[in-house]
Amino acid sequence: MRRKIAAGNWKMNLTETEARELTSAISDKKIPNDVTVILGCPAPYLSLTQALTKSNKNIHISAQNAHQESKGAYTGEISHNMLSSIGVDHVIIGHSERREYFNESNNLLKKKVEVLIENGFQVIFCCGEPLKVRKSKKHKAYVEKQLKESLFHLSSTQLKNVIIAYEPIWAIGTGVTASPAQAQDMHKYIRSLIRKNYTQKTASELSILYGGSVKPANAKELFGKQDVDGGLVGGASLNAESFNKIIRSF
Ligand code: 13P
Repeated sequence: MRRKIAAGNWKMNLTETEARELTSAISDKKIPNDVTVILGCPAPYLSLTQALTKSNKNIHISAQNAHQESKGAYTGEISHNMLSSIGVDHVIIGHSERREYFNESNNLLKKKVEVLIENGFQVIFCCGEPLKVRKSKKHKAYVEKQLKESLFHLSSTQLKNVIIAYEPIWAIGTGVTASPAQAQDMHKYIRSLIRKNYTQKTASELSILYGGSVKPANAKELFGKQDVDGGLVGGASLNAESFNKIIRSF
């Protein structure tokens, strides 16, 4: 059985007080046993949120990025060693905002994925096409290239530590959600690629999340699709009431 996952990506939002209140409001409510919640927190709050959720086995804390080197003269960066040392075991890699604003290439992401998995992390690997590519109907080839160049060098044992998040760029923060049928179509295609490059078993066990304007109003329908195993949620994860509803949308 694949894991059902509700992941929040807080991006560069919230003060420490807000982060504390939001985390408590999520962990104070009983989370359904079969749902895994992941909170993608800004780096300054990782220790805090980790401490607040320690006793809650259904909640994991994730970083939003990590450097590919273990340590060294990289001012402003965060290494996997630092994350391990505070008990963080998930990292979001390859978000479209990192790709676009920080020039992260498929090749760099390949290195990051490799280093993180070698060091025991679960990687939430983001992929997804811009509007222009969707309009030209080349979105499947585009996402296939992203996966091929950054993920498919992993062994099937390593791939078990990857969660794929399909986030069409045109749906991120725009209020425009991919329709459940569009999400299902792409998720099914991604799973077929895993089957082709690995095995049926590996493909059927890998969780594929949808991201892009997920809200309480559309989560149920999206998560109800056969190959949609949950969501990576931006804006709606910043509000306890809406994220708690999304957690209960499976
Ligand atoms: P929104 O849910 O705000 O569209 O953001 C999605 C996202 O980028 C999650 O990583």
